[in-house]
Formats: sequence, C-alpha cells, structure tokens
Amino acid sequence: MHHKSILVTGVSTGIGLVTARDLLRRGFRVYGSVRSPLGEDDDLARHPRFTELHFDVRDREAIRAGIQRIAAEGRHHLVGVVNNAGVAVPGPIETTDEAEYRRQFDVNVFGLISVCQESLPLLHASREAGFRPRIVNVSSVSGYLTSPFMAFYSSSKFAVEALTDGLRRELMPFGIDVVSVAPGPTKTPIWAKGRAQTSGFEDNRYSYLIPQLAPYTQAAERGGVEPQLVADAIHAALTDKVPRAHVLIMKKRWLAKLIRHAPKRVQDRFFTKRVR
Ligand SMILES: NC(=O)c1ccc[n+]([C@@H]2O[C@H](COP(=O)([O-])OP(=O)(O)OC[C@H]3O[C@@H](n4cnc5c(N)ncnc54)[C@H](OP(=O)(O)O)[C@@H]3O)[C@@H](O)[C@H]2O)c1
Repeated sequence: MHHKSILVTGVSTGIGLVTARDLLRRGFRVYGSVRSPLGEDDDLARHPRFTELHFDVRDREAIRAGIQRIAAEGRHHLVGVVNNAGVAVPGPIETTDEAEYRRQFDVNVFGLISVCQESLPLLHASREAGFRPRIVNVSSVSGYLTSPFMAFYSSSKFAVEALTDGLRRELMPFGIDVVSVAPGPTKTPIWAKGRAQTSGFEDNRYSYLIPQLAPYTQAAERGGVEPQLVADAIHAALTDKVPRAHVLIMKKRWLAKLIRHAPKRVQDRFFTKRVR
C-alpha cells in the first residue's frame, strides 16, 4: 500500500484533472482542490484514493482548512504539492479593467504563495519522516516569452518562475525540492475561457483585433500538446531522483528556446508577425 500523498490544485478541468487521474493510476493518494464540488458520480470523486478539497486559492482560510484536512487524515505523508490552478486574463495593458489584471496576479501568483506557505509545514514533516518532498509549479512558456495582449498572464508566470527559483534556493538546506514544469500551448479549456473574455478590446483603439482573437487562439489550441504530456512531466518532477529544475513541454521546443535567447527586437518581429 502506498503512503504517499500529493496535493494538486485546480483539478476540475485540464492539466490538473489529467494529472490527478494520472497520479491515482500510478498509485498515489491524491488531494485535489476544486472550487465547485465534483458531482457524486464523477470518476475522480468516486476514486478510493482521491480526496476532494474545496478552496479558491485566493482564500487563505479555505486553503488552511483544506491542508488541515490532509494533516488530520495523518496516515499518509504529503510528498508533493502541484501548484496547477491558474487563469489566463487576455487584454491590452492600456485598457484592461483593474479587477481583471489584479485577478490574474491574485490567482497565479499570490494564490500559489499561499498554497506553498500553508502546505510547507506538512512537507517539512514528511522530510523529517525520510521522504523527499517536492513542490511542482505549473508555469508556462509565457514565463519567459511575452506575447502582446497576454502580458498580465506572462508577467504572472515570470513571477512563478522567480518564486520557483527563490523557494528552491531557500529550501535547499532542508531537502525540499522546488521545480517548474512549463507547458507551451496545451489542449485544455483555458483557451475557450480566454476567447470568451474580450472586454479589454471592446470600444477602444484595440477593437480592430477582435476578429483575429478567436482564429488565433483556436490555432494555438489546435497546435497544442495533449495534457497527458504535461502530466507525465509533472510525475517525473515529483518522482525522478534528481528532477530538472525547469522543463519546457511543447512542440517546437527548439523554436521557443531560440526565440528566448534572441535579442528583444528580434523577438518583437516574431510576435508582431502573428498579431498586428
Ligand atoms: N493550456 C495551456 O495552453 C497552458 C499553457 C501553459 C501553462 N498552463 C497552465 O496550466 C495550469 C492549468 O491550466 P489548464 O490549461 O489546465 O486550464 P483550465 O482547464 O482552465 O484549468 C485551470 C484550473 O485552475 C482552477 N482555478 C482557476 N481559478 C482558480 C482559483 N481562483 N482558485 C482555485 N482554482 C482555480 C480551475 O478551477 P475552476 O474550474 O473552479 O475555475 C481549473 O481547475 C495553469 O496554471 C495554466 O496557466 C496552461
């Protein structure tokens, strides 16, 4: 019997859902957070090694209550935290509502910090019990390349990269590893959610872009990888003896790497060729 538990945030859809299923298949106990309860006949909810936690990552008290539940069940050691919950708020920097750009950071950045802080006591405890606990942050290729009209999302993922490196270096003496898994475009509902959000482009100087938004994001989604590939990378990050501190999962990885190291004005040409 397995005594290892993993907490995955945001398991309602997409990468989180596929990752939770994958970790269950591989024998872990999984604590998965959702904001709206899963249905009773949901396959995750019915799995004997799955426990549903209810929290919005912006709600510190709710996170704490969820983690307390893991501690209270006690028989299992929390050996991994996968910070997956995230949103992508598209829109021009000039015209996007304050509530929207703040939400971007509240969820992807401050929520992730809260989950780390609340779960670290349990990770330290499993370290003391002889395990090698890990935090895996789901970052993005947008954690180092910035597409126009995705700058809020991108800057939130730049922050996730910095938090990953900082926390890894802070926790090194304690033997808790912190790594990031950065997917490129992945086939999940995040794209449809973004397409539904056009308010920042409406009735302003950026409105001419509206007809391009759907085709552009549909093409990116179609060209994306299956979420299972990201789940595999997350599993490797949780279980490899020495995991890579950062891994990029995407088609044409070489292209992203090339652009990443190109001068900024060369990068400009790549991005504006696509949206203009
Ligand atoms: N898909 C891609 O192309 C791609 C590429 C690079 C990185 N990523 C990253 O991968 C992660 C997962 O995204 P996905 O593509 O799988 O999208 P998704 O299907 O939209 O899943 C996002 C998950 O995060 C949860 N979530 C959103 N806001 C939350 C909040 N305030 N508190 C708690 N949970 C919240 C969602 O729950 P609700 O259903 O309750 O909203 C959902 O479970 C994100 O961090 C995203 O940035 C995705």
